Amino acid sequence: MQTTMTDAPASYLNQATSGAGAMKKIVVLGATSGIALEVQRQLAGRRCELLLVARSAERLTELQADLSIRGAQKVLAYAADLSAVQHHAAIVDFVRRQFADFDTVLLAYGSMQDQKNSEASVDVMLEELRVNFVSACAILSLFAADLEQRRTGCIAAITSVAGDRGRRSNYVYGSAKGALSLFLQGLRSRLHPAGVRVITIKPGPVQTAMTDRMANAARFADTELVARDIVRALERRSPDVVYTPKMWRYVMTAVEHIPEVIFKRLAF
Ligand SMILES: NC(=O)c1ccc[n+]([C@@H]2O[C@H](COP(=O)([O-])OP(=O)(O)OC[C@H]3O[C@@H](n4cnc5c(N)ncnc54)[C@H](OP(=O)(O)O)[C@@H]3O)[C@@H](O)[C@H]2O)c1
Repeated sequence: MQTTMTDAPASYLNQATSGAGAMKKIVVLGATSGIALEVQRQLAGRRCELLLVARSAERLTELQADLSIRGAQKVLAYAADLSAVQHHAAIVDFVRRQFADFDTVLLAYGSMQDQKNSEASVDVMLEELRVNFVSACAILSLFAADLEQRRTGCIAAITSVAGDRGRRSNYVYGSAKGALSLFLQGLRSRLHPAGVRVITIKPGPVQTAMTDRMANAARFADTELVARDIVRALERRSPDVVYTPKMWRYVMTAVEHIPEVIFKRLAF
């Protein structure tokens, strides 16, 4: 594990802010994700302070330099494998010591294995559930306790439209994301009396490394558009559930209403 820190060049410190509101100090879990990269660029443009967590110390160092140049007031980094629950206490301890009074946590890491591999190997399936669901619940619980005690802040996590209905082609990934959405729903209710917001972000297919091997990837949503929806929700601390691009709310409402007797026959 490695910890590093940079400050933005002084020339940026005089730029006008663009109204970050209550959102000033953001912790990003999975800072090297394609979606997170674009979110971080947009937050840097708003002169936010960022604390980035991801596996690669090398990529974190590059990101610190890039985001500082783009206007971030401060960029801290912590290299760790977020899917390894035994690292979580140290991550949260670092955040509390070096980034006290953080107000926002965005969970962006995740893995999408080929469904066929999960069907062929219970180990692969369990790993998929561990990365996308178990470890996410574990680290969010630690951040939730901190924010609940301080009675402030916002937790946002990227799940997926794939979690809205179990499909033949990706139900292991989908069930992990669906379970995470359910966890967030309960967490939202628990934290409501403390004034802590919980936002569930459900993207449709997006053009990132996760999807670039897919045949129709060129038709997937652009990270810039998806990041804009995410940043808007973080700024407003609402809505509770964000579909991005927005049309996916209507698509998934329609998908959810297909009778099971028909749905189980659909080969997608
Ligand atoms: N792209 C889509 O179509 C889409 C749609 C809906 C939801 N999502 C969700 O959006 C989030 C961001 O995805 P993305 O599209 O930006 O994907 P991405 O570019 O492939 O990024 C995935 C991120 O997760 C980390 N990661 C992957 N496997 C991991 C593991 N086993 N342990 C720890 N970290 C791991 C990666 O770290 P490294 O950089 O170190 O590999 C990277 O930071 C994910 O939760 C994904 O499920 C994506």
